[in-house]
Amino acid sequence: MTGLASSGKNVKDMGAYKFWSTQPVPRLDDKSKIEVEGPIKEINMDLVRKEAYPLSMDGFEWVTMDLTSESELKEVYDLLFGHYVEDDEAMFRFNYSKSFLKWALRSPEWKPEWHRGIRATESRRLVAFISAIPVTLRVREKNLKAAEVNFMVVHKKLRARRLAPLLIKEITRLCYLQGVYQAIYTGGVVLPKPVSTCRYFHRAIEWTKLNEVGFSPLPKNSKPAYQVRKYQLPDHTATKGLRPMEKKDIDAVLSLLKRYLATFDMAPMFTRDEVEHWLLPNSDYDDQVIWSYVVEDPETKKITDYFSFYCLESSVINNEKHNNIRAAYMFYYATETALTPSASRDALKVRLNALVNDALILAKKFKFDVFNALTLMDNSLFLLEQKFGAGDGQLHYYLFNYNANPIAGGVDHKNSIDEEGSGVGVVML
Ligand SMILES: CC(C)(COP(=O)(O)OP(=O)(O)OC[C@H]1O[C@@H](n2cnc3c(N)ncnc32)[C@H](O)[C@@H]1OP(=O)(O)O)[C@@H](O)C(=O)NCCC(=O)NCCS
Repeated sequence: MTGLASSGKNVKDMGAYKFWSTQPVPRLDDKSKIEVEGPIKEINMDLVRKEAYPLSMDGFEWVTMDLTSESELKEVYDLLFGHYVEDDEAMFRFNYSKSFLKWALRSPEWKPEWHRGIRATESRRLVAFISAIPVTLRVREKNLKAAEVNFMVVHKKLRARRLAPLLIKEITRLCYLQGVYQAIYTGGVVLPKPVSTCRYFHRAIEWTKLNEVGFSPLPKNSKPAYQVRKYQLPDHTATKGLRPMEKKDIDAVLSLLKRYLATFDMAPMFTRDEVEHWLLPNSDYDDQVIWSYVVEDPETKKITDYFSFYCLESSVINNEKHNNIRAAYMFYYATETALTPSASRDALKVRLNALVNDALILAKKFKFDVFNALTLMDNSLFLLEQKFGAGDGQLHYYLFNYNANPIAGGVDHKNSIDEEGSGVGVVML
């Protein structure tokens, strides 16, 4: 599930990279140390096309999707619902809700032009889509004005016709036109060349349902009742002062998060508006997308900790009993314990385990079936203790037009959790 796995049907055959070898990205075999990290090529604006790339197929045209329109939002939703990322066995497919897409694609300073689609000219049917949102990304000591590219999809009937390279070139052009020359994107497929690779971990909440849909097999020598007991959780959270984040907490969360994210090699530089948008639950949306909690010290009233998770459901394809899995994904978190010079990594481990155990309890309360997390940030300190199991999926992080030395992804060369942790402080949706 999730990234999804890096082999199988969402994967290209490892070949010549006909398209990617023409792009400003490092080569897969490039192992040399980069002395000065920076852009791969300077973009000459005079050479950037002012009009869209011609489509290679007749009967189709480029469109800008207006995601403030409910009907166009629904078209993007429907395309992703039917055609977006599946696991290898085609048992599950991501089902990003309309509320989720509103949240993910209309973040502060979003650009309408960066929601690009392809329609069949006659039927007006939307058959492909790609998007970007602006982000200030810090890679080690440098801040990049970048685009986060996501939600690339091509209708199943139009696959393998080189539409993906066209979508990528078109979104690149549209970014260049706005003076944005770098991008970050993630995927389960291996492309030239990941700057980091994380692994997915899954923590069962409703084990029986996960077993029934084929997500969690019964381990050898175990019994269903044992599995259910293993994943049981208390009814109530345990951390003193834990409460849902409110509007009045924005500045405190911003300060905490900024200082915590500064400890990683690669992280977004959040503004106040971004913290409000990304982290504060918004009742304007039909469905809740994000759950955010703070810990307020009962005495000093200071916010000492923060954590959040978002909801991303997956459709279960062809199962008689269930058609949906409700998954919570670990989002941003931060804790003063990581920032107190005298506190050890052991202290951080204790604190994160307490917080994440509460996150699991809350996720259960809000009817999630599973809680997913990657090996990024300091997740390696809690994954095993909180009974997350390793998934098959890997998530590769890529930078477009930027040369950077590798960033630790929290897994070693055997794909096991690396206690050294990760340098990745970016959570992509
Ligand atoms: C990903 C998807 C858009 C690719 O389209 P396609 O019709 O399969 O592939 P095309 O023939 O058009 O293009 C192939 C090229 O795109 C590249 N490509 C494929 N998937 C890619 C990805 N996720 N990101 C970047 N490039 C990708 C291939 O490497 C290949 O380029 P190369 O010759 O340099 O190796 C399509 O398979 C799809 O919609 N899949 C489900 C959704 C999905 O996985 N989206 C990406 C989420 S990360």
